[in-house]
Amino acid sequence: MEWTLTPGTALRGQIRPPADKSISHRTAILGAIADGDSEIHNFLDAADTLATLRAVQKLGVIFETNEDGSRCIHGVGLHGLHAASGALDLGNSGTGMRLLAGLLAAQRFASELVGDPSLSRRPMRRVADPLTQLGARIGVAEDGTPPIRISGRQLHGARLSLSVSSAQVKSALLLAGLYADGPVEVYEPAPSRDHTERLLQSMGADLRCKPSGWVLRPARRLDPLHMVVPGDLSSAAFWLVAASLVPGSAIELPDVGVNPLRAGVLRVLEQMGARIDIRNRRDAAGEPLADLHVQSADLHGVRVDPCVVAAAIDEFPVLFVAAALADGVSFIRGAQELRVKESDRIGVMASALRAMGAEITEYPDGVDIVGGSLYGTSVDASGDHRCAMALAVAALAAQGETRILGCQNVDTSYPGFVADLRRLGVAVGTRRAA
Ligand code: S3P
Repeated sequence: MEWTLTPGTALRGQIRPPADKSISHRTAILGAIADGDSEIHNFLDAADTLATLRAVQKLGVIFETNEDGSRCIHGVGLHGLHAASGALDLGNSGTGMRLLAGLLAAQRFASELVGDPSLSRRPMRRVADPLTQLGARIGVAEDGTPPIRISGRQLHGARLSLSVSSAQVKSALLLAGLYADGPVEVYEPAPSRDHTERLLQSMGADLRCKPSGWVLRPARRLDPLHMVVPGDLSSAAFWLVAASLVPGSAIELPDVGVNPLRAGVLRVLEQMGARIDIRNRRDAAGEPLADLHVQSADLHGVRVDPCVVAAAIDEFPVLFVAAALADGVSFIRGAQELRVKESDRIGVMASALRAMGAEITEYPDGVDIVGGSLYGTSVDASGDHRCAMALAVAALAAQGETRILGCQNVDTSYPGFVADLRRLGVAVGTRRAA
């Protein structure tokens, strides 16, 4: 799939970003093992979360769509899952694969997890190794990538210190820990997103926060969930940057999740001089929520504090775009995790933005970007949904027409992205590659 974009007028209006992907995955998995029916409003209908739903269905869980569009998950209880008849295909979704690896390691049956070509290149030892420390039998390919083969068994409690801050790995260990024969303690170098922890606590799990970690005691049951999933700040980020960059723009983004462990993008953009108003802060089912209003602004270069990196990790592709069009130099370090996302996001974004005229120096864990102007040309998002959308934002602020190749996976997180661009008056051409 490729897109062609031409910059036009100011971007003005209201955009309702799609539901949070991280939270949607977790409601599908945790709802499946709850005791009774969960009701989830605003579940994200995107390729990644639907892959997780299908996987959980193959484990014997029934999902229904209610008349009002909400999802009913008929939870089977902690011990009600059944072996799937074949491999579970998680498509493009690292979250689905890693979280399910934790859950399945503790079941009394064998499972195999596979993915698409991008997911099949991603590192899985980071989740397999700590699960092994809980007693799991779990194998990955020789180079540490999927498929993941699990021979489920009784796990034991342990104290684990992770070398990488990863919410996916932490969540996998907590899911496994629900079934262990003693407490599971998980510590990480810097706090990663805590959606699993918030949901588990709301379901009655005995989960306590410690300095730089969590202690979970084995569970006997989990209460079902009744909640509305907030809008995804990671999807809203494209509009925050687009409106900041295109003169005369003003976009309103209602009901967006602003969990502090996800809100690094707001801090970085504010440091760059963005005009973002955070209104009507409130709480919905244990997650902070707000309405965001953004207006165009003159952005300037930024030195990103490495402490903010984990809380903005998925927003760097579009933050690179903001930096490429800001006044002055931006410095981003401590972001080596970007190399092992759906693509090598440092490499993909640096090549594409360089092709558009940006001056970028790459490091193993980040970039220096000298801000200036961009011109339209042909660039490749390498099948990475966030790079495709970030490059679309770059195209809106570039001179001339931009052609973006490799946009086929945008349905992973934001199926309505092109429709939302058009609602704002942007001329977008789409073409399926031959
Ligand atoms: C996610 C955690 C992050 C993030 C990913 C979603 C999650 O990955 O990049 O898009 O839902 O737990 P890591 O756990 O690898 O940091």
